[in-house]
Formats: sequence, structure tokens, C-alpha cells
Amino acid sequence: MALLKNQVALVTGASSGIGKSVAIYLAKEGASVAVNYHSDEEGAKEVVETIKNSGGKAFAVQADVGNEEEVLKMFEAVYDEYDNLDILVSNAGIQKDAPFDEMTLEQWNAVIRTNLTGAFLCAKQAVKFFLKRGLVEEISKSAGKIIFMSSVHQEIPWAGHVNYSASKGGLTELMRSISQETANKCIRVNSIAPGAIKTPINEDVWKDEEKHKHLLKLIPYNRLGEPEDVAEAAVWLASDKSEYVNGTTLFVDGGMTLYPGFINNG
Ligand code: BGC
Repeated sequence: MALLKNQVALVTGASSGIGKSVAIYLAKEGASVAVNYHSDEEGAKEVVETIKNSGGKAFAVQADVGNEEEVLKMFEAVYDEYDNLDILVSNAGIQKDAPFDEMTLEQWNAVIRTNLTGAFLCAKQAVKFFLKRGLVEEISKSAGKIIFMSSVHQEIPWAGHVNYSASKGGLTELMRSISQETANKCIRVNSIAPGAIKTPINEDVWKDEEKHKHLLKLIPYNRLGEPEDVAEAAVWLASDKSEYVNGTTLFVDGGMTLYPGFINNG
């Protein structure tokens, strides 16, 4: 039986990369999916087509997750289309890398705005809806599920990317605090922390032979991740199979957080 039958999911940043794969996998398990995009309308439409072509339900919805008005409109669009919401995958994220002493306030603000404030704005709307709607036992054992797309850099410091790692560190306590506040209402809030997954965000690294070789040294499992590796985890976290999993982070990183520098005794 499909794990997410009759459920409605909103995936932010779903026009490419991890979000795209998550949207497709949730739909494969029976969820109707709102495919959010910021600027890549073409990409979002392709994701919708892919889902529809395999018999699923989806529609594309534009919004900048850092803009509260646009977020409100996006949630309205989801309710207009499906009259419900069960799963939020807050996935939209960006990088604006720079050496710390050269990082501009603009680069700092842009990353915090999308990665952290965007997650706050979307989660707030989802929780509001879940609290109002409550538990619908025929659909799921939880009144709602939120999955934040974090990163191994919620834990691994990242020189040259302090805005990004700070946003993911912040996301961790955002997730845990919301979970602490809403668990008694049967709302489940968790994060996935992907490692190096082959997506457009890091293609300058994995498409370069030398950098790719160096990156592999950081991954004990000895391969880069695919978006599907993360999508499988998202399906599980969104489903009743993980009902008792609350306020935690699932690392999907091929062991990147295992301090691989110590493999040969440091
Ligand atoms: C970043 C990628 C990076 C990976 C592992 C992710 O969160 O977005 O650019 O390759 O972490 O360092």
C-alpha cells in the first residue's frame, strides 16, 4: 500500500536538486504535491509533468520563502487546490560563499533569509493549519509532519561558508524547539541532514575531477549521494513508519560526519 495515500505535501525549492526528487518520491507514495519554486518555473513544470505522467497529482506554486506575503499566498494556493495539508518539506536553500573577512552583509542576509527565515515562515503556516485541523486518523497517525532540509553543516563547521553553516545550525534548534512545542499535539518535526549530494548547488565541485577526488576523501562510504538517497529518507520521515520519531535529525551523508580524517589514526 502507498505510504502517503490521500495526503497532501508542500515541498519548497522543488524545481531542482533534492527538492525535486523529494516531490517525485512523495507523489510516488500517493501524496498530492505542491511543487514550490522561486524563479525556475520551467523546472517546476517539468517536476509536475513527471509526477502526472506516472499517475500522480501535483501543481506548481511560485513563492519566495523569505517573503511572508508570498508564503501566505502559497499556503492559500495549496488549500485552494487540495483543501488540506499533511506534510511540509521545507527544503529551499541557497549558498553565497565567501571568505569570512570578505563576506558582505548582503551575502549573510540572503542566506539567513532563505535558509532560516524561510523555514520559520513556512513551518509557522503549516503548524497553524495542523493545530486547527487536528488529527485525522484515517489519513495519518500524526496531525502533521514537517521535515526541514538541513545539512551536515549543522554539525561540521564550514570555513568559507559561515553564513550557510550558521543558517543550518539555527535550523537545528528551530526544528527541535518547534518539535518540543508541538509534539503533544501529534505534530512531528524533524530534519534531514544530507552530505554531499550531486545537485546544482555543488556542481562546481563534483563536476571537477580533482575536487571530486578530494571530496571523496571526506565520505567514508566512498561515493557522492544522489537526490534519491535523500528522497527515500523523506518518504520514511513523512510516513507513519516513523511515527515515534520526533525532534531529531536523520543524517544521510555516507558517513561524512564520522570524522573521516581519523581513519588512519588522525
Ligand atoms: C552543501 C553542499 C556540500 C555538502 C557537503 C551541503 O549542505 O549545500 O554544497 O557539498 O553540504 O559539504
